[in-house]
Amino acid sequence: KMTKVAVFAGSLRKESFTRKVAKNVMDLFPDNFETEIIPIGDLPLYNQDFDDEGNPPEVWTTFREKMKEFEAVLFVTPEYNRSVPGVLKNAIDIGSRPKEDSVWNDKPAAIISNSPKNLSGFGANHHLRQSLVFFNMPVVQQPEAYLANVATLLDEYGKINNEDTVQFLQSFVDAFVNLITTFKAN
Ligand code: FNR
Repeated sequence: KMTKVAVFAGSLRKESFTRKVAKNVMDLFPDNFETEIIPIGDLPLYNQDFDDEGNPPEVWTTFREKMKEFEAVLFVTPEYNRSVPGVLKNAIDIGSRPKEDSVWNDKPAAIISNSPKNLSGFGANHHLRQSLVFFNMPVVQQPEAYLANVATLLDEYGKINNEDTVQFLQSFVDAFVNLITTFKAN
């Protein structure tokens, strides 16, 4: 049976480095894993009234239903103002309610942050991790994935052209697969 991993990219930009990194990483999963990027750009901003009044937007409901297919979640994100981009945080908030049906609850997760310059998105990576602790998501701790100078790692086709980086990302995916497999077995 396939293990399905939902992939979230924290940028809507056409040429997003983050989405390119995500696509490269998706190719590194073993054959019995299926990965899928979940679109988040059309999710209306979270408003608690919609849930309290029992009338959430249909796209929220579709998103929440869809997330039930997945056993694990990979977050790939840039950093906006030293934190998680709003578009990703919005999807996280929508998925987290109603609280007893949180789509995140108990699902193994992994985080990759990146930046075009030297910072590597450390702030976004750790702010995101803070929410995942609350969701009781076991998160890959080592290796930590901070990709700096990300543009220099990608070729004109959006492929990561640097063998060390590919190897590093493979070790990261291996650790994630190991976490998911161990979690499933218990
Ligand atoms: C940024 N950027 C940025 N970069 C960074 O390393 N740390 C930061 O705090 C910020 N802050 C920030 C805020 C806002 C509003 C924008 C639009 C951008 C730059 C950011 O890393 C750059 O735009 C990336 O290219 C965004 O990722 P994608 O779109 O390439 O995936």
